[in-house]
Amino acid sequence: NMAKISAGVFTSHVPAIGAAIDNDKMDEEYWQPLFAGYDYSRQWIAEQKPDVILLVYNDHATAFDSNLVPTFAIATGEQFKPADEGWGPRPVPMVQGHPELASHIAQSVIQDEFDLTVVRDLDVDHGLTVPLSLMFGQPEQWPCRVIPIAVNVVLYPPPSGKRCYALGKALRRAVESFDENLNVQVWGTGGMSHQLQGPRAGLINKSFDNTFLDRIVDDAEELSQTPHVDYVRLSGSEGVELVMWFIARGALNETVEQQHRFYHVPASNTAVGHLILENQ
Ligand code: DHB
Ligand code: FE
Repeated sequence: NMAKISAGVFTSHVPAIGAAIDNDKMDEEYWQPLFAGYDYSRQWIAEQKPDVILLVYNDHATAFDSNLVPTFAIATGEQFKPADEGWGPRPVPMVQGHPELASHIAQSVIQDEFDLTVVRDLDVDHGLTVPLSLMFGQPEQWPCRVIPIAVNVVLYPPPSGKRCYALGKALRRAVESFDENLNVQVWGTGGMSHQLQGPRAGLINKSFDNTFLDRIVDDAEELSQTPHVDYVRLSGSEGVELVMWFIARGALNETVEQQHRFYHVPASNTAVGHLILENQ
C-alpha cells in the first residue's frame, strides 16, 4: 500500500511550443508534425492516470535569479502559479502540489545526503508548464498533482549528470517509503541540443541527440558521466539541460520498457526529444 513509481516521461520544453498551443497554431504546417509526436503520449497518460508527477525542470531566471540559485529545489506548496515570463503568464491552470508527499520526499532525501532547498511558493515557467501541455493538452484543470523539482542548469556550475542520476535513486527510495497507495511518475525535461546565444546560436546536433536517446534507455549510468564540456561542445550551451533527464532515469528500474520515442527538428531554436519509459 505504498506509493510507487510506474513510469518516466522525458521531453524538451521549448517556450514557443507553449505559445503555439495558447494561440491555436497547433495545426499549422510548422507545428503539426511536432504535436503529432505526442498523440500517443496523450492517449497513454489518459490510461495511466498518475496521481502525482515529480516534475524535474529548470527555472529560467523566473522564480529564481542570479541572486539566489539553488542547485536542487523541491516545492512543497499547495499550488503553483504559471509565471509571467515577459509576455504575460500562460493561460493554463494553476498547478496543484502535494505538500504531504513533497515534505516526505524532502525529509527522506535530505537524510539520504542530498541537501535539497525547500521552497513553498514557486511560480512555474515554461520549463514546467510546456511539458504538462504537451502531455495533457488543454484541460480545465491539470488531472493530477505535480511536485516541482527545480534544477539549476542556467548558471555555472550546474550539477553533474552523475549526481542527478544518484538523486533519482534517492527520490525513488523516498517515494517508495510514503505510506499511501499513489501512482507516481517522474518526468525529466529540457534539452535536446540547442544554443540560444553567441556565434553558434541555432546549433543542433542530430547524431548527439539520437545517441543520447538510445543510451539513456539502457546505458544510463555510463552516459550520466558525460562531462559538462561535452554537452557544451556537442549539444550547444543550453544542451546541458539534459542532465535533468538523469534524475527521472535514476528513479526508474535499471531495465525499463520503452513505450514511445520521438525526435523532431526544429521547434524554435531547439531539437525536441521525447521518451516514455515504463517500470515493469
Ligand atoms: C528556447 C529553448 C529553451 O530551452 C528555452 O528555455 C528558451 C528558448 C528556444 O528554442 O527558443
Ligand atoms: Fe530551457
